[in-house]
Amino acid sequence: LRKDGTRVFDLTMQAGEREFMPRRKTPTWGFSGDYLGPTLRAGRGEKVEVRIRNTLPEPSTVHWHGMHLPARMDGGPHQMIDAGGVWTPRWTVNQPAATLWYHPHPHGATEKHVQRGLAGMFLLDDDRTERLTLPRRYGVDDLPVIVQDVRFDGARFDHGHPLLASVGFLGDRTMVNGTLAPYREVGDELIRLRLLNASTARVYTFGFDDGRDFSLIGTDGGLLEQPAVMDRVKLSPGERAEIVVRMRPGERTVLRSHPLDAGMDFFNQRFSGGDDSFDVLQLRAAPSLRPSPGLPARLGELAVPDGSDSVRGRHFELKFSGINGRKMDMGRVDETVARGTAETWTIRNNDGMPHNFHVHDVQFRVLEVNGKRPPAALRGAKDTVFVPSGTTMKVAMRFDGPADPDTPYMYHCHLLYHEDQAMMGQFVVV
Ligand code: C2O
Ligand code: CU
Ligand code: CU
Repeated sequence: LRKDGTRVFDLTMQAGEREFMPRRKTPTWGFSGDYLGPTLRAGRGEKVEVRIRNTLPEPSTVHWHGMHLPARMDGGPHQMIDAGGVWTPRWTVNQPAATLWYHPHPHGATEKHVQRGLAGMFLLDDDRTERLTLPRRYGVDDLPVIVQDVRFDGARFDHGHPLLASVGFLGDRTMVNGTLAPYREVGDELIRLRLLNASTARVYTFGFDDGRDFSLIGTDGGLLEQPAVMDRVKLSPGERAEIVVRMRPGERTVLRSHPLDAGMDFFNQRFSGGDDSFDVLQLRAAPSLRPSPGLPARLGELAVPDGSDSVRGRHFELKFSGINGRKMDMGRVDETVARGTAETWTIRNNDGMPHNFHVHDVQFRVLEVNGKRPPAALRGAKDTVFVPSGTTMKVAMRFDGPADPDTPYMYHCHLLYHEDQAMMGQFVVV
């Protein structure tokens, strides 16, 4: 914390190596460490400054996924940091408490940079959430869970795509926070897991091995209006979910990823990894547990528009060959939105393969999925949403940041291979 109240973070993008397996060193990239990056944390209303040094042998960027901030600070493909360069974005946090993350966004190379280990969490707090009885002791009963799938070729990462995987890279095992076969000892009755799918292509259907249910309390952009009890939650790349699970003394339970129902034919299901299942994280409860207060019945008000004051609609047709028939062009602005207004966007995938859709700067509300009210897991604030083939979705958002006609924000498929292959477009707020 600087004297003027600015919260200052230092991040160094660096090459390193890590022993994921005993006596085998894997070359990696990380933020201020070998692999992944520190969890950054700031409160609503705080000024934030991040000094980023890029010591990698190539240019990159750092994007604040889910953050509401000026386009020049967004860390998209227009804010490149040269090899050896420094970038110091500054902004004021102005959005509800949430689990956000940061990762590189260099056009055409995002998959490679994220896969080598460049990703970290950025947690936001606010006063209202502070007053709720939720598990909130970081690393004790409030745990970050960054899930990535990986494949090793000896000690090295194997990042190749199998020929038939139209979705991009799929690993054959998963890591949590950079650890293979992880377990975690816990000492509280209620454990909050902040799940982040930081994989490049894989969609997970998380649930416990014994089928126990859990409470979903938050999605990408923050807390739901009320906890929703379920036993499965699906996350595509870039999405987050905050869940609270109840533990009994001395027991063990495993968070797994179950086979996916992605609405695909046999061939696509198979080659987008939909048939796979993984043990993701084992929780081991201490023989006696600290009692946790029950979850509040209400968590708060959603701060995303409900579509009733949308001033216009737009349509986005998701195809691997390009969104709305166009490939990403850094020099072309695809959409221009008016500052302060709300809009309803219709997103459609009829491409025969899974996609998702992410919009920078905003959180949106899912209004409809194929004409119906969205399921509980899609009723919170979202910035990324899974759109399997055969799906049409309507979402509403408000663009209330500062106008900047010269610097675009991105919208794109967050399957990083698709993004790199130009399944991305640009919008400006004027
Ligand atoms: Cu998580 Cu445009 O990115
Ligand atoms: Cu983003
Ligand atoms: Cu895609």
